[in-house]
Amino acid sequence: MKPDIQWANAERAAELSTRYNVTPLTPAFRVDPQFEADVLDGLDDDPKHLPSIWLYDRRGSELFEEITEVAEYYPTRTETRLLAGLAPQLESEIGGVHTLVEIGSGSSRKTRLLLAAMHSLRRYVPVDISADFLHDAAAGLARDFPHLAVQPVVADFTAPFALPGGASDDSAGNLGFFPGSTIGNFTPDAAIDLMTQLGRTLGSRSRLLIGVDTTQDPALLIPAYDDAAGVTAAFNLNLLDRINRELDGDFDSRDFRHLARHDPHHGRIEMHLVSQRAQEVHVRGRTFMFAAGETIHTENCYKYSPTQFLHMAHAAKWRCERSWQDGGRTGFTVYLLRRDS
Ligand code: AVI
Repeated sequence: MKPDIQWANAERAAELSTRYNVTPLTPAFRVDPQFEADVLDGLDDDPKHLPSIWLYDRRGSELFEEITEVAEYYPTRTETRLLAGLAPQLESEIGGVHTLVEIGSGSSRKTRLLLAAMHSLRRYVPVDISADFLHDAAAGLARDFPHLAVQPVVADFTAPFALPGGASDDSAGNLGFFPGSTIGNFTPDAAIDLMTQLGRTLGSRSRLLIGVDTTQDPALLIPAYDDAAGVTAAFNLNLLDRINRELDGDFDSRDFRHLARHDPHHGRIEMHLVSQRAQEVHVRGRTFMFAAGETIHTENCYKYSPTQFLHMAHAAKWRCERSWQDGGRTGFTVYLLRRDS
């Protein structure tokens, strides 16, 4: 049986649906008012941009899972190796924690390493924006770990969301798990805000296990974000198909090309969609003009050095208890943080 699912941010969805006069966000939604607002605003801007959270509809989430398996995409492999090494020590490191909250859980594949090693866990709360993908992953975990209460929450975790039953007040606190270097998809200021908000959601005495990619080596980065099989390109281009499906758009994705570009000044990889010719595109009855070569900026992937990351963590009131770093070229690091207050 699939676990019950909790919808977060219902009030915000209702407010936006009234403002933009579209179908409210419900489990059977067709138009997400925030998606519509972000697309219309982002395509109207100069330069054009779209928030990367919208890459993750069901198809986008599936394609992201495929990315994690391509040879060039080193972060997942590297982090999984680190987690496999640290998972058996984690319980003795932090004591008997009962609730694991995973932020941006996706397929929850890496979580299995923690669930199998941490015998004190009683409850698993995966949080993700992709409802049907979350539901399937949660159902698989509920089947494989029958002693666990699996309580999925559909939420855009960049906005405050509530844990089912509220933050635990048991003395062990909650353990947050934020793998994959997803923190890198946030600007430094937004990352501090997010970690601050996660601290509030997880509650006092909580800990956060978080994976952060660090390398600035373009020889590793460019192939990782522009793989030879074209999976990352398909992931990026799917955003245009999603706009066509959900917002009556008429993008022809063959007229756009995926671009991954390293920006050493900001310490990030950027994903763009490049218009291959001058063209006009319509979305929700509005017209958007593209010059040849003009791009839509669809994602930032910051690679935070340990110094930068710990500075942000402290600003968000977390302190570092331990870290595990890849000894190879990537420097990928998993940090165990503890709430300061
Ligand atoms: C989800 N996130 C951490 C991935 C990353 O590496 O920034 C998203 C991604 N985009 C392209 N490839 C992977």
